[in-house]
Amino acid sequence: MKVAVLPGDGIGPEIVAEALAVLRQLDLGLELAEAPVGGAAYEAHGDPLPQRTLALAREADAILFGAVGDPRYDALERAKRPEQAILGLRKALGLFANLRPARVHEALADASPLRRERVAGLDLLIVRELTGDIYFGEPRGVRDAGAAGREGFDTMRYSEAEIRRIARVAFEAARRRRRRVCSVDKANVLETSRLWRAVVSEEAQRHPDVELSHMYVDNCAMQLVRAPGQFDVILTGNLFGDILSDEAAMLTGSIGMLPSASLDANGKGLYEPIHGSAPDLAGQGVANPLATILSAAMMLRHSLGRPEAAARIERAVERALADGYRTADIHTAGTKRVGTAEMGRAVRERL
Ligand code: IPM
Ligand code: MG
Repeated sequence: MKVAVLPGDGIGPEIVAEALAVLRQLDLGLELAEAPVGGAAYEAHGDPLPQRTLALAREADAILFGAVGDPRYDALERAKRPEQAILGLRKALGLFANLRPARVHEALADASPLRRERVAGLDLLIVRELTGDIYFGEPRGVRDAGAAGREGFDTMRYSEAEIRRIARVAFEAARRRRRRVCSVDKANVLETSRLWRAVVSEEAQRHPDVELSHMYVDNCAMQLVRAPGQFDVILTGNLFGDILSDEAAMLTGSIGMLPSASLDANGKGLYEPIHGSAPDLAGQGVANPLATILSAAMMLRHSLGRPEAAARIERAVERALADGYRTADIHTAGTKRVGTAEMGRAVRERL
């Protein structure tokens, strides 16, 4: 099994190093091949997603990704920005199904900004469509709008086939969980959302054992804070899923805790923490590596056929937290504050 390792920018290399150390300790015979991506690749090759990196990602069985982005590149044209690396990989590899589980680890219920009784035991899954929507819709650009000056425009677009295949992923996932899907849209305003709602409802009829509800995205943003325990699987589009997954992440105590899988139609996938490159933390050894370590576990489960190894990693993380190890982002009174490398070591010692 070959894994393409793309550390990227900011804290990316530090957190990926800890995930790799965990994988090496498990001694699974994985072939790990690293390549530059994002701002780091732009510096070295003038391209955030060089051909060689894309080729490596294509031929690998799975991809472990760190993070991309750096304010240094804010002024660059869109095609050269670090974010194009991850967007390009998702599109080129057809990684349309993004799974973002948000679980509150028992030991972290007090690190959440919400009261413990509101988040304890929380376990929800966001299924985010990842290769369509306003992220990729054409036309887009900035044009001259006469007296109004310039005008920026993007296109929100979803085809029936795109909606259907992500809906199926959500219903299938719900069957392995508590059998409830809440589809989130803005059908009171958007045509794309009206189609989304209609197609998801059709798919629901093929999954009669799963209960479907619909919710507007603004209400969902509120409900996630008011009563997050009501959700099992949240099914939503690319843009809404981006926003809601950051919000859901924070319920778990820190955005530094959430792993993700981005899968194609055959189960090949890219695995990354949902957080970004955090340039302000880079190089200080303080970033939380757990989202990336948990992403490596998802990789073993979903793409590499090693669910038992995945479960071992997840238990080791659970134990490290139970034993009081905390990076700065999840630190609360009475726990051991540690850096990136020490957190990685704490997990490996418990494997
Ligand atoms: C994410 C990120 C990306 C996105 C950025 C880096 C392009 O925010 O994975 O959630 O918007 O999808
Ligand atoms: Mg995001």
